[in-house]
Amino acid sequence: MAVKARAHRLLLALGLGCAFLAPTSRDRDRLVARATQEAEVVQPTSFSVTVGSFSGSQPEGKVAVITGASAGIGLSTVEGLARSGIYGTIVMAGRDSAKHQEAMESLREKLSRASGALARPVELRFLELDLASLASVRSFEAEFRQLKKPLHTLLLNAGVMALPERQQTADGYEYQFGVNHLGHFLLCNLLLDALHNSGGSSDPSRVIVLSSSAHQFPSKLLKGDLTDLQSFEYAPWTAYGQSKLANLMFAYELDRRLRERGLRVVANAVHPGVVNTELFRHAGGKASGFLNQLTKPVLPYVMKSPADGAKTSVLLATEDLGKLSGRYWQDGRPTASVDFDPASNLPAPAQALLPFPKLTSYDPAVWGELWEESELLVGLRSEDVRCL
Ligand SMILES: NC(=O)c1ccc[n+]([C@@H]2O[C@H](COP(=O)([O-])OP(=O)(O)OC[C@H]3O[C@@H](n4cnc5c(N)ncnc54)[C@H](OP(=O)(O)O)[C@@H]3O)[C@@H](O)[C@H]2O)c1
Repeated sequence: MAVKARAHRLLLALGLGCAFLAPTSRDRDRLVARATQEAEVVQPTSFSVTVGSFSGSQPEGKVAVITGASAGIGLSTVEGLARSGIYGTIVMAGRDSAKHQEAMESLREKLSRASGALARPVELRFLELDLASLASVRSFEAEFRQLKKPLHTLLLNAGVMALPERQQTADGYEYQFGVNHLGHFLLCNLLLDALHNSGGSSDPSRVIVLSSSAHQFPSKLLKGDLTDLQSFEYAPWTAYGQSKLANLMFAYELDRRLRERGLRVVANAVHPGVVNTELFRHAGGKASGFLNQLTKPVLPYVMKSPADGAKTSVLLATEDLGKLSGRYWQDGRPTASVDFDPASNLPAPAQALLPFPKLTSYDPAVWGELWEESELLVGLRSEDVRCL
């Protein structure tokens, strides 16, 4: 596949891609070519609130960037980071400035009530980012660099789940794969040098990727097949599961690449549990509105609160355990992700005759193929990644 991807790049560079590839690939090539074009840089909205007052002009402490912190697990994670006394700046990267403003104000109020107990003042900064637009991701990176801050922790937390109909991002990719995986893939690669430069050999910078136990849902990617990353045969939960598997494989492959290159950054993936958040807004398909109203009263009793759902992310961002790398975490502990061989109990001749596909998240060849395909899809250029 590595060879195929390189050949593909060469064909694209020669403008011959479309002539040699099947019709379904043609759309993809057009999108890939579009992703490689120079993005228009739009000035993202940015504002901040502070909890407590700084003695100097700049907040002290570590700097974190978190996506999807307007609500749910992300917002509770911001609260946990602020309370840890380790972070002086938390950049909340999201698309809805009004929703963030409201969330930040109510968090400021909550934290101010406890400010006597806050070990250090904290700046909460909103910086606009729409993960459904690769141009927005690039604008975010440019704006973040303008802040002239280090970057110790990157939490790739934002997500969408089980959209009832197939939708596309601004760049034409399936929406869940585009937002949950591709946007985060590009963001992390663009910020990797900032992470490396801010990491120490005894305290590396941390990339924390929100995956899900839904990575186990049967999908082509789980069989090592990358031909339907765009979910053209659309099924809402399969597309979600595949995007969460992509999150997981991204964390594993990132860890592998970081180790290979000796970078001062670690990478982990998290399943936060089943958490009572807005993520479930589409869970009942077309009957979601009705079902959500019906189940709302019981959900707090059967699901984790956002504060509990944020605990593993906060642990990885604040404690020594978070210096481990390349693991999949649940309830504060590393755990195994899916690895299932349906033929493993069959005798050898039957295994050869009945080639059941392995369903695994642990195939480094597939991690590598997904990485290379993602590079193509987001138009990542070698000069974009200043340290890999
Ligand atoms: N809740 C669970 O049970 C559960 C289980 C396993 C894994 N997870 C994972 O945990 C993460 C957080 O989920 P949650 O439950 O906290 O969900 P949530 O309450 O729905 O929050 C999702 C966040 O992602 C943001 N987001 C969505 N689309 C975006 C886009 N195009 N650009 C930027 N931000 C965008 C949302 O922003 P807006 O406010 O603008 O919509 C929101 O802040 C997700 O990755 C999810 O897959 C959750």
